[in-house]
Amino acid sequence: MKHKSRLLAPSIIPISLWDPTRDVLKLPALISDTYINLVDTMGLRELGTTRDPKSGPVGGISKESTEQHFAQAFDGSAARALLALLDPKLEAGSTSNTFIRCTAGNRISLTDAPCGAGAASFTFLSALAELRAEKILPRLPLDVHLIGAELSIHARELAANILAQINPSLIEQGIFVSSEFVSWDVTNQNSNTDLVTKCIQTSTKSDYKLLVVANFSGFLERESKRKDAKKQLDELFRYASGERSFALWIEPHMNSATSGGGLLSWIHRQFTTIWKGFGTTEVNGEDENSYISESRFLLPLQPSQTARVGLAVVPIILDRKS
Ligand SMILES: C[S@@+](CC[C@H](N)C(=O)[O-])C[C@H]1O[C@@H](n2cnc3c(N)ncnc32)[C@H](O)[C@@H]1O
Repeated sequence: MKHKSRLLAPSIIPISLWDPTRDVLKLPALISDTYINLVDTMGLRELGTTRDPKSGPVGGISKESTEQHFAQAFDGSAARALLALLDPKLEAGSTSNTFIRCTAGNRISLTDAPCGAGAASFTFLSALAELRAEKILPRLPLDVHLIGAELSIHARELAANILAQINPSLIEQGIFVSSEFVSWDVTNQNSNTDLVTKCIQTSTKSDYKLLVVANFSGFLERESKRKDAKKQLDELFRYASGERSFALWIEPHMNSATSGGGLLSWIHRQFTTIWKGFGTTEVNGEDENSYISESRFLLPLQPSQTARVGLAVVPIILDRKS
C-alpha cells in the first residue's frame, strides 16, 4: 500500500504512539496504564517481568493460565494490534485502512474471537481515542457494539473489568461501547451457533461489521485443533459476511502461522477455494499468505526496555459473491 492511499498516513501518527527515529511503538497510555494497574492489583508483577522469550503462554480455561497469559502476553498482543493498526512502515496492506474505514461510520459491530482479556479490541479502541485526542481523526459519535467471545470465564471477567476502566476515557472521545462477553468454544457447534446468532442480532443496525481474530495459532496449530475448529470457523466467517463487512486475522510472525502448512496459509487457501463465495483475502503478492511487519515496543512494566513484536496479518473483505 502506497503512502498516498493510506487514511492514516505514517507521517501523521503521533509520537505518543510511534517513535520513528527509534522504530519503537508505545501502547496508548489508556491501555498501558490500565494493564499496569491491574497487574499490580492482581499481584502479578513478578510473573509479568519473568518471561520465556522462546515459549509464550497461549492462555486457557483455568484461572492460572488466564493470569499467566494476561501478565506475560497482554502487552505483546496489544503491541501487535497497534502495529497492525498504525502500520508505520506500510507493510500490512489494507489492514490500517480497514480499521479506520470501519470506525468512520456511526455504528460498528466489532466481534473479537477469541478475545482473551481484550488486548486486540481494547488497543484498537484506545488508539482510536488517542488519535481523536490528538485531533488526527475527527471526534464524531461512534457507537461500538463489542462482542468478546472467549472460552475462559476468567479472561471474560478480566476483559469486562478492563473495559469498565477505559470506558470513561473512550466516552470523552465520543466512543460509546456496549459490550457482551460471551462463552465460546470454537470446537463446539452449538456454542458457535450461539455466537453467530448474537453477531447477527447486533449487526443489523451497524454501518460496518468487523471480525477480529487475534493470536489463535497457539491453540489451533500447536495444540492441533484446526480440524476440530474448521466447521465453526466456516460458519463464523460466512455469517459475518455481507455489506461493509471485514475481518482481520492477526498472528505473531512465527512458522506455525506463516509457513506453507501454517494457519494463515490455510486461511488464505480457504478464501481462494471453499470460502471464496463469502470473502476475499486482500493479500496480493504471489506465494504470500499474509502481510509481515516487525517493530519494537516499550514494555509497560519495564519502561526503560523494549521488546520485539512480529506481526503476520490477513485483511479480509467479507463480501458475498452471490
Ligand atoms: C493466545 S490467546 C489470544 C487472546 C486474544 N485474542 C489476545 O490477542 O490476547 C488465545 C485464547 O484462546 C482461548 N481459547 C482456548 N481454547 C479455546 C476454544 N476452544 N474456543 C475459544 N477460545 C479458546 C484462550 O482462553 C485464550 O484466551
